[in-house]
Amino acid sequence: MDPSDYEKLGQFYLGREYDLEKKSSAAGNLVLYDSKDLVTHAIVVGMTGSGKTGLCIDLIEEAAIDGVPTIAIDPKGDLTNLMLTFPDLRPEDFRPWINEEDAARKGVTPDEYAKQQADLWRKGLESWGQSGDRIRRLRDAADFAIYTPGSTAGIPVSILRSFAAPSEQLREDTELFRERVSTTATSLLALVGIAADPIKSREHILISTLFSAAWAEGKDLDLEALVGRIQKPPMARIGALDLEKFYPEKDRGELAMRINGLLASPGFGGWLEGEALDVGALYRTPAGKPRVSIFSIAHLSDAERMFFVALLLNEILGWVRMQSGTTSLRAILYMDEILGFFPPVAEPPAKRPLLTLLKQARAFGLGVVLATQNPVDLDYKGLANTGTWLLGRLQTERDKQRVLEGLEGAAAAQSASFDRKSMEELLAGLGNRVFLMNDVHEDGPVVLETRWAMSYLRGPLTRDQIKVLMKGHRPQGAAAPAAQTDRAARADEDQQSREERDAAIDALRKEYAPKVHRAEEKARRAAQIVEREEGQLRGAGLQTAVSAGATILTAIFGRKKVSYSTIDRGTTTARGAARAMEQREDVKRAKENLAQAEQELEELKAKVEEEVARIRAA
Ligand SMILES: Nc1ncnc2c1ncn2[C@@H]1O[C@H](COP(=O)(O)OP(=O)(O)OP(=O)(O)O)[C@@H](O)[C@H]1O
Ligand SMILES: [Mg+2]
Repeated sequence: MDPSDYEKLGQFYLGREYDLEKKSSAAGNLVLYDSKDLVTHAIVVGMTGSGKTGLCIDLIEEAAIDGVPTIAIDPKGDLTNLMLTFPDLRPEDFRPWINEEDAARKGVTPDEYAKQQADLWRKGLESWGQSGDRIRRLRDAADFAIYTPGSTAGIPVSILRSFAAPSEQLREDTELFRERVSTTATSLLALVGIAADPIKSREHILISTLFSAAWAEGKDLDLEALVGRIQKPPMARIGALDLEKFYPEKDRGELAMRINGLLASPGFGGWLEGEALDVGALYRTPAGKPRVSIFSIAHLSDAERMFFVALLLNEILGWVRMQSGTTSLRAILYMDEILGFFPPVAEPPAKRPLLTLLKQARAFGLGVVLATQNPVDLDYKGLANTGTWLLGRLQTERDKQRVLEGLEGAAAAQSASFDRKSMEELLAGLGNRVFLMNDVHEDGPVVLETRWAMSYLRGPLTRDQIKVLMKGHRPQGAAAPAAQTDRAARADEDQQSREERDAAIDALRKEYAPKVHRAEEKARRAAQIVEREEGQLRGAGLQTAVSAGATILTAIFGRKKVSYSTIDRGTTTARGAARAMEQREDVKRAKENLAQAEQELEELKAKVEEEVARIRAA
């Protein structure tokens, strides 16, 4: 099946169905994931090396080709590989990016190794039905960039703008406003080493009060101003208490010193220069082209990472709430490793906004994708809000049980059926790059092998490599207001056509799925009779019907139907006996039925193809 059969239909090509017994996906149907299912989010779990990042890179590539932008948070450095795409697949394209240590380990020269890698990628892509042309389409479809908060290797990010007053719209949303104030205070305090309880800690209460007062008037607050106001707050009371009693001046001085220390620290200069966090601009260029914005944060300390991620999540939350409601996928937020950001019991600053995103973002079309090695890293409430689970190889029995429990809970929360025992058996058989996908919008789980990534998965890049990659890739600064209008208009237009397309595909499914199912059942029953009596399936007609099933019908109806390829061909009976029975009426009738069903399937296929062509052209 050619990519042009499924592209532009909102179907993401993730891999092929995998046969756990044969340990192969060679004969498997393509696994196409309905992009609108992603608005209920996805979680990817699997041990190190199981292929989580590869799978998510596949997903981001598919989304980009379909015009859906991504913000990717990259704590490990692997996502920078999304920028290593070489349509010509030449050795010299790979050469600057290969891991020279790997070359040395293999005892080959770097040039030779680059050639091997280029070969590996070309062959890998070929065996998954992809080519350099598709890589070219990927590169053309979106603008890719690496951001490096606190560093100038990639595009630097200024976090001080994040203390800018939120928009008026957001300020009117009391709950959201309060949450923004609280997370900003928590993450700022965490950055200076104070783990503050939002309700009890006076540091937190004071800083929240200061942010809240300034922002309510639409005034920005940068760190210098904040230090000043901690010393001389513009209010005499905090709650019902006199300021001096609640937090005496001397103690406030200590807090001011600590925050000032941050300002004075040599590393902090990096946090002051660069782009403001503007989520609209991270998702689309001024002209409205979709973007893949990768935030590489591997170089930051734990506290700095938490600080940055909390701020970014807050900004995304603010942005998402300003979007119109939709049932189609608008944008993706991907986090490559959530360890520490979203724990079950503790409350690090990033947790609240992420939980709120999982609960609320679906209404606005933001799909959140989270990956982790260990299911224990995840808050249970977040799990229950996740519609798609991609489960890879797990290390311990305990991990498996925990995943099954979470899955059971999620299924119950969405009133979907769940067969724990069969799920457990499937989990036990998984290998690298083989995932069990459970999507609550589908009939049942499917085991898939992930397709070959278009991006060259060489692993984390060095700072110098990021510098080289991003050279000449600096954005032109803040967009002019006219350009911002272009961006918004293009985004709205895209979203509307995506909604129309998804609705058309839905209607097509509703109309044709029962017809296809009936014709297939008829063919299957007839084929069984013929086979039983004749010992073999004859005629090229069935072959045609089967291949019809493997192309466009599968793409559109996916796992929402009985697949033709699962026909049980049974055992071959003796030829002579079959011949003797050939005259029997039921065989004759069965053959007629088979021919008829094949004819019907052919016609259905033609009609569906016609409809699909119409949808694609719209
Ligand atoms: N889709 C893919 N196409 C080609 N190669 C892949 C793909 N997925 C994984 N691989 C290969 O397998 C290796 C390990 O996969 P990956 O990095 O995705 O694992 P992971 O589950 O993210 O591990 P970790 O938890 O350590 O980050 C990759 O470096 C790459 O060589
Ligand atoms: Mg990974």
